[in-house]
Amino acid sequence: MPTVPGKLPGIGHVPRLLRNPLAFMRSLRDTGDLAWVHLGPQRVLSVNSPELVHRMLVTDGRKYDQGKYFDKIRQEFGNGLPVSNGAFHTRQRRLIQPAFHRERIEGYFRVMADSAAALTSRWQPGEVVPLKAQALQLMLGMVAKTLFSADVSGRVNDEVQRSWTTIVKGVAWRTMSPVEFLEKVPTPGNRRYVQASRRMRAAVREAVVEQRRTGADDASLLTMLLAARDAETGERMSDEQIIAEIFLILFAGTETAAFMTVWLFHELAREPAVAKQLYEEVDSVLGDGPPTFEAIGRLTYTRRVLTECLRLYHPGWMFMRRTNTTVELGGRELPPGTETLFSIYAQHRDPRSFPEPLRFDPDRWLPGAPQPPDDAYIPFLAGKRQCIGDGYAWAQMVTTIATIVSRWRLEPVPGHPVKELPQALMAPSELPVVVRPRP
Ligand code: HEM
Repeated sequence: MPTVPGKLPGIGHVPRLLRNPLAFMRSLRDTGDLAWVHLGPQRVLSVNSPELVHRMLVTDGRKYDQGKYFDKIRQEFGNGLPVSNGAFHTRQRRLIQPAFHRERIEGYFRVMADSAAALTSRWQPGEVVPLKAQALQLMLGMVAKTLFSADVSGRVNDEVQRSWTTIVKGVAWRTMSPVEFLEKVPTPGNRRYVQASRRMRAAVREAVVEQRRTGADDASLLTMLLAARDAETGERMSDEQIIAEIFLILFAGTETAAFMTVWLFHELAREPAVAKQLYEEVDSVLGDGPPTFEAIGRLTYTRRVLTECLRLYHPGWMFMRRTNTTVELGGRELPPGTETLFSIYAQHRDPRSFPEPLRFDPDRWLPGAPQPPDDAYIPFLAGKRQCIGDGYAWAQMVTTIATIVSRWRLEPVPGHPVKELPQALMAPSELPVVVRPRP
């Protein structure tokens, strides 16, 4: 099996990866559908074709666990859904799935719409707004408020808003950091992380205990988690497990949707024809009233624009898996314990699947347009680990965009080109916008 060029003794491809991580991920396919990458002493197999990624995630999904990258997240947050493996993951998935059914999402919709309306009604005409920071705050609030019942959500939400950025930064650093002991050194940054993490855990624990005690039967996600019973064993989740699930739902459901909102407004500013069509659609579907769940479902052009954002700017620039048994992949036999990596971001920019991949073109997704090969477009992944929050994410993103567009036009402040930042996820840099009321 070929090795990616540019390997140096002892450190492997780390300098190439650090110099330009996104370009490095995009370049892997040039070496072959399967190619070895050396991350210091560790050898990782990069999987670079949609067919083999599908094989790994779907056909042979059970033969792979979440890889190295997820071990650290588990250590920090607990064994929640995105990081758990095997029979335990299957059981948890079965327990949590009902909280994300369509009728539940319809129940969360009001909170989403009210949160978006509250944010945008604070804007003043002509004000400069940091869109990324505000989108993050909004999505975090939405997830926190749908997770917890109305009576506890205020307090938990305050703590989440206060601590979350510190926690996410700390976890990202711990995941990437090559040397473990550095995180134990009592630097101000480490201390802030530990304190934020402790405070937030205490607030979430209090909310869980309170809600279990009162037995409040509201429509919150937490109520669903507390009530969930395994169909076979009748078992419920422990408080510790519920806390892990909450942390990881916050982790998985906040940045992803916020980043997509930023990329969408970035593209609307660059593509006036796309912006015009999207604004017209929102006006004609929503009219003068506030968005309804039913109307949000009819914003088909807005969904196509988001579909294209999820293609071009997918946040998942690097995911990892680990074989838990001997597996055949692409005609090769991989022993148990083989670490693999793949990139949805790079796969969505592969010219073999998407002609002119860097061109932003929502019309790629018109019914009747030539469609990409099977399995090439996987924004929410596929198989047993497919994003459990995909329906939630669509509601969250479309509601936010429709709410903004129905009242405001966002003009990026000149001189702030948006950059792609390869952090734990691929993030946009801040996008300052001037908010102008629409006539
Ligand atoms: C645009 C927004 C989103 C994108 C692009 C996205 C994408 C993904 C992807 C690619 C995975 C698989 C990761 C892996 O296994 O390596 C995933 C898993 C997951 N996502 Fe999302 N996600 C989004 C929004 C959300 C939201 C809003 C929630 C919850 C409120 C959520 C909850 C989860 C959970 C719990 C998992 C783990 C599922 C499992 O392993 O069984 N996601 N997501």
